[in-house]
Amino acid sequence: MTIMSKNETYYEHQPVLLDESIDYLVTDSSGIYIDATLGGGGHSLALLSQLDNDAQLIGIDQDDEALTAANERIDDPRFSSIKGNFGYLSRLLPPELHGKITGILLDLGLSTHQIKEAERGFTFQEEGPLDMRMSNLRGVTAHQVVNEYSYEDLRDIIYHYGEERHSRKIAREIIDRRPVETTTELRDAVEAVVYGQHQIKSVARVFQGIRIEVNRELDMLRQVLEQSLDMIKIGGRIAAISYHSLEDRIVKKFFKAGNHEGKIEKDFYGHPQTPIEEISGGIIRPSEEEIEKNSAARSAKMRVAEKIDQSEG
Ligand SMILES: C[S@@+](CC[C@H](N)C(=O)[O-])C[C@H]1O[C@@H](n2cnc3c(N)ncnc32)[C@H](O)[C@@H]1O
Repeated sequence: MTIMSKNETYYEHQPVLLDESIDYLVTDSSGIYIDATLGGGGHSLALLSQLDNDAQLIGIDQDDEALTAANERIDDPRFSSIKGNFGYLSRLLPPELHGKITGILLDLGLSTHQIKEAERGFTFQEEGPLDMRMSNLRGVTAHQVVNEYSYEDLRDIIYHYGEERHSRKIAREIIDRRPVETTTELRDAVEAVVYGQHQIKSVARVFQGIRIEVNRELDMLRQVLEQSLDMIKIGGRIAAISYHSLEDRIVKKFFKAGNHEGKIEKDFYGHPQTPIEEISGGIIRPSEEEIEKNSAARSAKMRVAEKIDQSEG
């Protein structure tokens, strides 16, 4: 039996939509690229294989373990990494690179390793502490959300972020059972009030909702999209791979108009003034073949947008 080192378990993550994302992203083999969700480094390695010696790639992740694993795997002078939350992209990147980036990749969500490791508290398949933080930097834990939030806040998180319609009775049950200490206890609370064949989906949705709250995932996505637009040069691209409809809705709106309202500004003559254009022609999904090999790819949706020169036209 071969025993995997902790780092190697990060490499288990199979990069999703790998060829498609790299094909769209690389417009200049000598450019400067950002992999804002470095994870196990799968996409970064593929990107580097397409780039020339004078290119540059910066990987970002907020998870210490992911950074350590990726840095060990990618031994390349063109590569460097930064620890941080991509929601603060413009602060993470040195000012001399602002407006000069050729492509930014956002492969949202969690890596296989994070999901599998019970101590991180993301999985309901195994007993673990209620943590769910992607970063150990700061922030509330799932334990705080589950045990300290008001009924209304808990209900709204489960409903809006988990998209779970039984949010009221689940929130009530969680509160009645406090303290809820582990992932198993949280799962039990959901299963006590939701029955039938969709029970497991409800558990997954509750975990998703709490994870989104803990990591402020939707706020961070909004922030990184806005800042990415400032960071890329004209003709630069942003490729965003999302894994649930809440994320895709945010990406879709932003790529349509360059703002989160999805409102297309017009000039004096009524010509649209969008700073960005979606060039993927809507959603790109993994092939059946990819899904068969990697079930984690099933819900993936990619959109790609390009920054437009507004002085032309
Ligand atoms: C789906 S995995 C990326 C996998 C990677 N593309 C690969 O091929 O190995 C997402 C990664 O993004 C990181 N991440 C998610 N949200 C983040 C954020 N707001 N800031 C920085 N990193 C984030 C997670 O810690 C995780 O390692």
